[in-house]
Formats: sequence, structure tokens, C-alpha cells
Amino acid sequence: MTQPKKLFIKTYGCQMNVYDSERMAESLGGQGYVTTDKADDADMILLNTCHIREKAAEKVYSELGRLKPLKDARPDLKIGVAGCVAQAEGEEIMRRQPAVDLVVGPQSYHRLPEMEAKVRSGQSALDTDFPAEDKFDHLKGRPKMKRAPAAFLTVQEGCDKFCAFCVVPYTRGAEVSRPAEKVLEEARDLVERGVREVTLLGQNVNAYHGGMTLAELIRALAKVDGLERIRYTTSHPNDMGDDLIAAHGEVPELMPYLHLPVQSGSDHILKRMNRSHTAESYLKLLERIREARPDILLSGDFIVGFPEETDADFEATMELVRQVRYGYAYSFKYSTRPGTPAAERPLVDPAVADERLQRLQGLITSHQREIQQSMVGREVSVLVEKKGRLPGQMLGKSEYLHAVHIENSTAAIGDIQRVRVTEAKTNSLAAVLV
Ligand code: SAH
Ligand code: SF4
Ligand code: F3S
Repeated sequence: MTQPKKLFIKTYGCQMNVYDSERMAESLGGQGYVTTDKADDADMILLNTCHIREKAAEKVYSELGRLKPLKDARPDLKIGVAGCVAQAEGEEIMRRQPAVDLVVGPQSYHRLPEMEAKVRSGQSALDTDFPAEDKFDHLKGRPKMKRAPAAFLTVQEGCDKFCAFCVVPYTRGAEVSRPAEKVLEEARDLVERGVREVTLLGQNVNAYHGGMTLAELIRALAKVDGLERIRYTTSHPNDMGDDLIAAHGEVPELMPYLHLPVQSGSDHILKRMNRSHTAESYLKLLERIREARPDILLSGDFIVGFPEETDADFEATMELVRQVRYGYAYSFKYSTRPGTPAAERPLVDPAVADERLQRLQGLITSHQREIQQSMVGREVSVLVEKKGRLPGQMLGKSEYLHAVHIENSTAAIGDIQRVRVTEAKTNSLAAVLV
């Protein structure tokens, strides 16, 4: 028997990249690869990359620079770049870093086995097509390995929204939904392998239209035996349909957590971002969602220092955050992305943008702490995902996606346990059995 070859994958960026890395590992599994968590003894290293901000893309080149000595020492080591930097920069990557053997875009992962054979024979391989065939269909026939209780499941990919700052419509292509039967089939397969919770993924997941709406898909998934929890991310305010809002009040398996990015609280900036909603329409929408599910925890994304953002525009963002009180929110300093419409516009003074970002993050963190604190004394359900560091301690997530440590737990991994929160720590909650 030949020794299995070892594959090391490093994943950057969003949850869809996490999902894709798993699919790539399975795809190369058929070529005799097993995954390793040490780059040092790998036969192939894949970086699954993100292009969303300049820093994210530059990280890839510094990592490649660090990997180069490994390759110099072991020329049969193969290095590949996958993901959104691969899609955006293609061949340029091999020019900038000749240690790279393989470049594969997010729509071509099913072609990895042929590409691997090509690089093994000493050639380089590049594929950044948007092929017509369904990559998911080619990723089947994988071994039924046991899985962690919470899994990602891509149902939709790409985006047609073209927000003025964003590379995703270019790196992931046009919006495509997977047929609902395929999604249901994959969900059943995941459940057989121990999964209890799925997070449905899409760059614009609430625009899903795979023969059903997202709400209909969620209702169908809720009927799958053994699937206890459903989440979805990321959504656009304009695609938040009435039936999806209703599902939040009616489907117990749909968890009370929603990531609904708004990006800014200023209507002028929203317009310049090509977001096609206003601060008011967003707040009205949240009101309706909270009517359907009063305890829902909201999360969002913000861009600070978008071109032309004035002090008054920024104050409107602060005001919106005060009104919403997010349980979690992610805020980023605007980063110019070549090829996007906003790239042509004059930048806000970086020092001003930094100061705004700090103030916004301070406000968001204070809300986050207050909400964590308000959980103390309440009962929550925790899907147990792993053992803690202390004896008897188990770790998992509440329905609101809070990380919870259960002391003296009797649960096994994959159980859902009812607990009472005893303490709010910085990034987690402590709880005891009820
Ligand atoms: N599909 C997601 C977007 C993924 S990018 C969605 O539509 O919400 C995640 C977040 O990165 C975005 O919500 C936005 O806040 C931020 N982002 C995107 N492009 C950016 C840029 N050029 N500069 C700074 N932040 C950006
Ligand atoms: Fe990017 Fe806007 Fe599409 Fe989200 S909705 S992926 S921010 S273009
Ligand atoms: Fe990054 Fe691509 Fe995801 S740019 S955020 S990895 S879709």
C-alpha cells in the first residue's frame, strides 16, 4: 500500500470558504490525500483565500513568502491558492510568487483532482472559469465520516447586488441557487453523520430561489428527522420576504438569531453604496422581525469611512446602532477594491476614519456586553460541541449563538442541554444544568 499524501489547508475569509475547504479536502481525498494540521509535513498546501479587503488579500502573499523556504527545501511540495484572491488575481499570483503551482477559483473545485495530477507531473495548473456544470454534483461519493454537530451548508452562491465597495459579485459571480432537493439530500446526509445544526450559506442567502423560497426550504429542513437547529447567513434587507419573517415566529427549529448587515445609517451614503434601502426602511423591517420573534438577537456589518462620509453621516450610523442594539456587529474601515465603482472616489482622511471606527466599535461592544449581562439568570438551550478545559465542562452554543461553558455537564457531544446562565464573561457565558 502506498503512503497517503498529506494535505494542509489554511482558510481565510467567510464561512463559505470554511465549507469550500471541507469540499476541497474531500475532493482530494479521492486522490489519496489525508488532511494534516501541520504545514511542515504536508505534500500539498492550499491557501483558501479572501479578497474582501486589501489586508485580507495581502495576508496571502506574506503567507506564501513564509512558505517559500519549505518549498525550496522540498521541491516536491506543491503549493496552491484557492478562493477569492485566486479568482480575482489568477495568473498574477504565480508571477508575484513563483513558488505557487496551482491557482483555482471558487467555481472550479471539482476539477482539483485533474489539476493535482497536472502539478504532480511538474506543470502548473490554473482554473478560474465559471463552468456550466454543477460543481456540487461532482463533489459526491465522499466517505461517510463522522461530523461535528454544527455544519455549514451552501445553498446559494454569488451576488447580483453590486454594492459599490464590494468584490463578491466579481469573485463569486452571479447569484446561483442549488436545487432544494439537493440541499435536502445533503442535509439528510449530514444528519446521518452526526450533524444536529446546519447554517445555510449564501452571499445573499435570503434571495434563495432553488425551486422554493428560503422560508419554504427552512420549513422542509425542519421536517428532517434529527435536524434540530437551522440558521442562515448572510441576508440582504431587500430580500427579507414576508414568509421568511413569518418563519421566524412559526418554525421552532429556526434559531432566534439574524445577521442582517446595513453598512451605514446615512441615507446619502447608503445610496452612494448602491444599497437600495434606507435607514428607516431597515429599522421598519427590524420592527416586523422583532414582532414575529421578540427575543431575536440581531447582528450586522458596518463600513466606516466610505468615500464622502461626513461627520453627520457617521453620526447617523451611531444613532442607528443605538436604536437597534446589536448582539454582535462587525465594523470595518473602508478598503478600496480595484475594479469596484467606489474605487474611483476620493477617500476620507484615514485618521478620521480610524477615530470613527473606534467610536463605533466602542458603542457596539457596550451593547454586546449589556446583552451578554442580561442573559444571566435566564435559561437557554445549548448544542454541545466539545469538551471544555476543566473536568466536567462542556462547550457549545445557545440558540442566540452565544458561546456557553456548562459546568458539571452530563451531556455528550451533539446533545442539546437546557441550562441556566450564571455568569457573563467577555466572550462567553457560564451556565449550570437546570
Ligand atoms: N455577503 C455578505 C458580504 C460579505 S463581505 C453580505 O452581503 O453581507 C462581509 C462584510 O465585509 C460586508 O458586509 C461589509 O461590511 C464588509 N466589506 C465588504 N467590502 C468591503 C470593503 N471594500 N471595505 C471594507 N469592508 C468591506
Ligand atoms: Fe457584497 Fe453587497 Fe453582494 Fe453583500 S450584497 S456580497 S456587500 S455586493
Ligand atoms: Fe472573502 Fe470571498 Fe468570502 S472575498 S468574504 S472569501 S466570498
